[in-house]
Amino acid sequence: MPGSRILGSGSALPSRVVTNAEMTTMVDTSDEWIVERTGIRQRYIAGDDETTSSLAVDAARSALKDAGLEPADIDLIVLATATPDNTFPATATKVQHALGCHGGIAFDVAAVCSGFLYAITTADSLLKTGMARRALVIGAETFSRILDWEDRTTCVLFGDGAGAVVLEAPDRSTSVENGGPGIIASRLHADGAQHDLLYVDGGPSTTQTVGHLRMRGPEVFKHAVVNLSSVLHEVIENSGISADDIDWIVPHQANKRILDATARKLKIAPERIIVTVDQHANTSAASVPLAFDTARKDGRIKSGDLVMFEAMGGGFTWGATLLRM
Ligand code: UT7
Repeated sequence: MPGSRILGSGSALPSRVVTNAEMTTMVDTSDEWIVERTGIRQRYIAGDDETTSSLAVDAARSALKDAGLEPADIDLIVLATATPDNTFPATATKVQHALGCHGGIAFDVAAVCSGFLYAITTADSLLKTGMARRALVIGAETFSRILDWEDRTTCVLFGDGAGAVVLEAPDRSTSVENGGPGIIASRLHADGAQHDLLYVDGGPSTTQTVGHLRMRGPEVFKHAVVNLSSVLHEVIENSGISADDIDWIVPHQANKRILDATARKLKIAPERIIVTVDQHANTSAASVPLAFDTARKDGRIKSGDLVMFEAMGGGFTWGATLLRM
């Protein structure tokens, strides 16, 4: 069955840039360490007037404009975030109201850094059933709010931002097998046994606090390379294409060394990997749509290109989606 197709994309970043040099005034770190170990040079940090929903709304408006659509054309909003405005209701409902979309479906997805992969796969499934016609799929985060700003092993790694795509239900007159646009294959996975390697040490039903992000970085790194290579192989095999056919990989932007290691394992040329981690750092669920929008707007990703999204994050959760533009 053909999958849903992307009609447009958008993104939004907070106005404040924090460079590695500025990070050295907060914790015992250096630009050299951060660049060498992660590839990160700067990150965007939300101000008091910027929230997950405000960034999501800006990204969604930009995606609607890019698609040539109005809020009234949207009947499904799936928002991936681990940093919602409130514990409830879903930030997606706040975004729905702010955009002026009436009725339809709106909910959040919590799969941390793989959130956008979980969200786009869920939206695609709902669109295929006919429950909705056009969806906004958004990844939006303000991770700066859950960082321990005294922990140099985590606070230098993350940033805030949002990215969005407009997805339309499959057009049954075209077929992705014949080169038409649309999602070709998706695979999602989770392994709750790895909870303690990457988590937030608070929450409503445990501590009644928001908590701070905790990560055992080197262990997460090893799992990331293995899990991402494995799910990419799975999607490639499932879709009957070869890795050589892929024009662009749009990976979760956690660490440049993870991107390089995964590319080496798949024998994919580094020029075909979209890298924004240097500019945005790790924006969790926002990182894939932010990177995708960056590469579409600068002209790299074009109509007809074969594009692979991939991500892995807390849970663990991980996944990949292959689509034709
Ligand atoms: O988005 C979800 C998925 N997340 C990821 O995929 C993240 C995966 N992990 C990573 O990206 C890397 O493991 C990190 C970037 C987090 C860490 O890099 P690493 O090369 O694995 O470093 P490490 O944790 O083994 O630390 C090496 C040294 C340690 O010092 P000692 O014990 O060797 O003396 C750390 O204390 O670097 C030290 N260190 C720092 N030094 C300066 C840790 N953080 C910093 C820092 N500045 N910010």
